[in-house]
Amino acid sequence: IVYRVEREGTAILSKMVAGQTIDTMGPQGNGFDISVIEAGQKALLVGGGIGVPPMVELAKELKKQGVTEIISVIGYRDGNLFLKEELEKYSQVYVATEDGSAGVKGNVMNAIQEYGLKADVIYSCGPKPMLRAVKEFGLSHEIETQISLEEKMACGIGACLACVCKSKDIDEHSHVHNKRICKDGPVFAAEEV
Ligand code: FES
Repeated sequence: IVYRVEREGTAILSKMVAGQTIDTMGPQGNGFDISVIEAGQKALLVGGGIGVPPMVELAKELKKQGVTEIISVIGYRDGNLFLKEELEKYSQVYVATEDGSAGVKGNVMNAIQEYGLKADVIYSCGPKPMLRAVKEFGLSHEIETQISLEEKMACGIGACLACVCKSKDIDEHSHVHNKRICKDGPVFAAEEV
C-alpha cells in the first residue's frame, strides 16, 4: 500500500507502527481492464505523482499476461523518483520532472512528445490536468485510453455521491450525467468522463 500524507486520515496512518492493526474495507470499485490488450500489442502506462504506484502492479500484470511491449512514462515534481526502479523490472521507463532534475523537463506529455511514443492501449493515473491531456492525446490518436480518477470519498461504496465526476452517459443510480468514482470507477474509458 502506497499513500501520500494528505490530511488527517493519512496523517494518522503515517504514525502507525509495525504490529498495529487497522480495519479496512476493499478493494472497492473496478481496476484497469487488461483483457483489451493482446500479447503482440503495445501498452503505454502514464503515471504522475501518486499515480505512479498503480502503474507498477499494472505493468506486472500486463507482463504476466504476455504483453511484451510495455512502456511507462512517469512524471514527478523533482528528483525523488519513487518506484522507478520497481517499474523498470516490468517496462521500459521514461521520466519527466517539473524541475528538470531527471529525464525530460516538464510533464509526461512533454516526454511522450519528445520520444514520439505511441501505443495500442493507454492506461493512466495521476492529477486531473494530466489525465485531461492524456485523454486528449489518446482520443486524437484513436488509441483506447483508460484513466483512473481520484476524488475525496466519504462512504466508498457508492451511496453518498461525494465522489462523482461528470460523465457522458446518464447514471442509472442518480439519473444525471454523473459517475461515482468509488463504485463505477475509479477507472473509466477516457471518452466516458
Ligand atoms: Fe460515497 Fe463515492 S464516496 S459515493
